[in-house]
Amino acid sequence: MLPQYRPPTHLIGAIVTVLLCSTATRICGQEIKCYHPAVPPNTRVTLSTPGLTPGTTAVYQCDEGYETFGNTTLVCSPTGQWQGEIPFCGINVAYRKPANQSTTAKGGNAIHANDGDKTTNHNEKMCTETYKEASPWWQVDLLRPYPVKVIRVTTRGCCGQQPLQDLEIRIGNNSHQLQKNPLCAWFPGTLEEGVTKTFTCARTLIGQYVFVQLGVEGTLSLCEVEVFSSDELPVHHCQSSKNLENAALATFAKKCYFFEVNKGSTFKTARSTCQSINSDLIHNLTTLDMSFLRAQLDRWKPKLKTQLVWLGANKDPGVIARTWKWVNGE
Ligand SMILES: *[C@@H]1O[C@H](CO)[C@@H](O)[C@H](O)[C@H]1NC(C)=O
Ligand SMILES: *[C@@H]1O[C@H](CO)[C@@H](O)[C@H](O)[C@H]1NC(C)=O
Ligand SMILES: *[C@@H]1O[C@H](CO)[C@@H](O)[C@H](O)[C@H]1NC(C)=O
Ligand SMILES: *[C@@H]1O[C@H](CO)[C@@H](O)[C@H](O)[C@H]1NC(C)=O
Repeated sequence: MLPQYRPPTHLIGAIVTVLLCSTATRICGQEIKCYHPAVPPNTRVTLSTPGLTPGTTAVYQCDEGYETFGNTTLVCSPTGQWQGEIPFCGINVAYRKPANQSTTAKGGNAIHANDGDKTTNHNEKMCTETYKEASPWWQVDLLRPYPVKVIRVTTRGCCGQQPLQDLEIRIGNNSHQLQKNPLCAWFPGTLEEGVTKTFTCARTLIGQYVFVQLGVEGTLSLCEVEVFSSDELPVHHCQSSKNLENAALATFAKKCYFFEVNKGSTFKTARSTCQSINSDLIHNLTTLDMSFLRAQLDRWKPKLKTQLVWLGANKDPGVIARTWKWVNGE
């Protein structure tokens, strides 16, 4: 009998290799492709080619109402990796929340750094100001922990009197010992005057308090501090109606709130206005809702038309009734 012919095994391997790795975009039979790129919350992505082959671009867009930070284009590399960093979409969750600072000088109240007014001239008391002291700080209480990625600081303009040096930004849950909160960003130099500068945390930090502090002795004067999180609704989501055209809008914990502060009216009118947009007067308050409302009303105080505001609590009918119920009957 003739022995069966067996090619030497190293030869098979060689042939196989030559056959399957013949083109540049194939490695041993597999076409090089990028995985579908990640799509974080509040973003949309458009691919230049559906095949996800090298050279494909992924262009990100933030949903309406969110601000975009970073480069919006990623490119699929020849080795099948996305090049570039996914942009961040966030909204400012510091606006009108309770603020505090180490000391207050010359009418530079802490609330001027999150009043939405970025005027860099402090003459009209538009910015914050502390006394000259060791490591002055400014703080905002976001009222609940938020994942935070970007902080934007607007510095005071003119004339080299209050330069910001050695700026530290911390985010965490410790309201008193600010050094216990993780560091988001550190800027060792001197910040330019009258500019808006964006700081990106090395990683997303979850926290309720944001601190801005100078590492040296000096005066801390800030004109606006914005804290961006992707974990909140933009006010743009809140349904509006003609009846509430002049109401101030705010979102908190993904709920919409309308503040009608310029108009006095009755409980009935207030309630039917709310109902016209499929909502109701505020009822069944949690401690969290309560601290949010208190902070908002505190800021509205100078503009409130009356001393009283309507919440959704109703007295039972009857002259001597003493029981109150929320509008939902609870
Ligand atoms: C954004 O990223 C793309 C791909 O990495 C690059 O070609 C482009 O120059 C970048 N644009 C900016 C403004 O950095
Ligand atoms: C604000 O900060 C000052 C100085 O540390 C402190 O004494 C005060 O209690 C703080 N106020 C609030 C409302 O936390
Ligand atoms: C702050 O509290 C939240 C919720 O309890 C938690 O997820 C987060 O990790 C805390 N942040 C820090 C910096 O400890
Ligand atoms: C009222 O709030 C409590 C506590 O948050 C909750 O358990 C309850 O379901 C709420 N009731 C209504 C009707 O929303």
